[in-house]
Amino acid sequence: MRKNIVAGNWKMNTTLQEGLELAKGLDAALKGKAINCDVVIGTPFTHLASIAAAIDTNKIGVAAENCADKNSGAYTGEVSAAMVASTGAKYVILGHSERRAYYNETAEILKEKVLLALANGLTPIFCIGEVLEEREAGTHFEVVDAQIAGSLFDLSAEDFGKLVLAYEPVWAIGTGKTATADQAQEIHAHIRQTIAGKYGQTVADDCSILYGGSCNASNAKELFANPDVDGGLIGGASLAVDKFMPIIEAF
Ligand code: G3P
Repeated sequence: MRKNIVAGNWKMNTTLQEGLELAKGLDAALKGKAINCDVVIGTPFTHLASIAAAIDTNKIGVAAENCADKNSGAYTGEVSAAMVASTGAKYVILGHSERRAYYNETAEILKEKVLLALANGLTPIFCIGEVLEEREAGTHFEVVDAQIAGSLFDLSAEDFGKLVLAYEPVWAIGTGKTATADQAQEIHAHIRQTIAGKYGQTVADDCSILYGGSCNASNAKELFANPDVDGGLIGGASLAVDKFMPIIEAF
């Protein structure tokens, strides 16, 4: 079901205490407000259970920022999708460009992670996006198509329908350089067409596709006004309630 979603990705920021304060602050700020989107916060693993217990998770969904590509066993330091689900988290961010670049997450690894997330009842927020050289070379459409096909196109239409996608051009992440509203619309429409080509128009029309990359209070409205932009995946601006709230309220 296509929804408007504003999701935060805290990345490796906040201590548990700081994270709890931030989550509770957001919970309080949302109280009594008529909001036209689903709100999600992606937090470090260490925070998931405490935050899920401290806030109204029907109002703010909690997301992990990753999960293991294995079910359980001798994988020291890994956190499985089942463990994430057991904290009360409902979502998991997968395939973020930082995980692809710094932790060598390949299409095959991500395929496994998506399957395990779905098997454990989590909604994957699956990230795709090109680097600057690919954008400059004009290959960004093929890059996102390959990322989608490489990790997601073995899914049944029913399972694909459970995903949220996030288009995050790597050149826009944490750089202050946002994609223009037209650039975002152009590639989001393309992504939807790619999904339609594989699963049909209904599945494509039902898919929420978020934009991520230097999205903030001043550009969110324009970005979200695009017909194929269904919300945002927000990094830096999700780390303070007064910066995150105006993005949520941009819908
Ligand atoms: O996942 C969100 C992200 O990568 C965007 O980060 O700081 O540019 O909003 P930021």
